[in-house]
Amino acid sequence: MSHSPKGTGSLVSTEGTRHTRISGVGGYRPERVVTNAEVCTWIDSTDEWIRERSGVVSRRFAAKDETVVDMALEAAGPALEMAGITADQLGAVVCATVTHGYRTPAAAPLIALRLGANGIPAFDVGAACAGYCYAISIASDMVRGGSADHVLVVGTDRLSEATNHHDRGSAFIFGDGAGAAVVSSSDVPGIGPTVWGSDGEKWDAIRQRLSWTEIQDRSERELAGEPQDWSDAGAEDARSASTLIMSGQSVFRWAVWSMAPVAQQAIDQAGITADDLDAFIPHQANMRIIDAMVKQLKLPADIPVARDIAETGNTSAASVPLATERMLREGEVPHGGLALQIGFGAGLAYAAQVIRLP
Ligand SMILES: CC(C)(COP(=O)(O)OP(=O)(O)OC[C@H]1O[C@@H](n2cnc3c(N)ncnc32)[C@H](O)[C@@H]1OP(=O)(O)O)[C@@H](O)C(=O)NCCC(=O)NCCS
Repeated sequence: MSHSPKGTGSLVSTEGTRHTRISGVGGYRPERVVTNAEVCTWIDSTDEWIRERSGVVSRRFAAKDETVVDMALEAAGPALEMAGITADQLGAVVCATVTHGYRTPAAAPLIALRLGANGIPAFDVGAACAGYCYAISIASDMVRGGSADHVLVVGTDRLSEATNHHDRGSAFIFGDGAGAAVVSSSDVPGIGPTVWGSDGEKWDAIRQRLSWTEIQDRSERELAGEPQDWSDAGAEDARSASTLIMSGQSVFRWAVWSMAPVAQQAIDQAGITADDLDAFIPHQANMRIIDAMVKQLKLPADIPVARDIAETGNTSAASVPLATERMLREGEVPHGGLALQIGFGAGLAYAAQVIRLP
């Protein structure tokens, strides 16, 4: 027997605004400064090598009990203030993070609750260092589609916890922090088209050493009196098996050769040229990657380039908003200017867009 459809009327669809903009940004850097000299007490390296190869001079580490949610709240406050709104005006929270302590639930509902906006849609985006630029794109589409009027985007990561501090290939590069932005409706375009994508063939290039399932299995065997050898994962124990491992050189090559064309496409699709930019704000992965991208994009020499990595390290999802916040606060870029931002990393995943600075 066949059924004919019941509904005959057409569905009502939401209608959003034509344009969106970033109306506020904020950042939070934890108090504890970790110098290269301190890192060199954990690995066989030198301050000079770390500066030369990565550009990092110091990074911040969160306090023992300071979570990605705590840091996100510190960054969200100033972002809301700059946007001129209060938390009860938010329509959603999108949190970009890969270091929230729980597989589930997400960090975002806790951020909404603690902001005093309990009840609104809140979810996490797991796109690692591309997470913030992914989330800006999603939030912008949500506002344009009429699902929310103002969306809080937070990039917050506590990479100190996800780093094996004895791994020479990664111990010096990562740091902790949070950056936030409010995406709002606008009369004129304030967020250009996002150029984004992923490459699952390079899924292995930056990843957790062992899956949680594997860690649980081995830990259970260890508890049952069967000693485990973790060295195949470059780890000493269950804890360090949950840290990140990175094929530094292949990530470096990918970032240098593949990301400049993505950034160029974001400029082209925004309908501007590099000469129109007031700032270039790339993911703070490595100073040499930043330099190579500037060269390949043939950016005019007078365009300010974010170099927050020197004092903040690579903070994954927090890196682009933290660099943005610093440039605005230090008067290096004008409010209302155009910035090209690009995030890229584990996945591998990437996203770029030209935005008008709040
Ligand atoms: C990690 C990274 C800085 C390493 O720099 P590199 O120039 O590729 O270094 P290599 O691994 O080729 O090692 C070069 C030499 O330095 C040595 N070395 C490696 N780590 C070292 C350290 N921490 N201190 C001192 N020497 C080190 C190596 O042993 C090697 O010595 P050798 O030439 O005698 O064999 C670089 O690959 C990088 O930044 N990659 C991208 C990582 C990144 O951006 N990740 C985040 C993306 S989101």
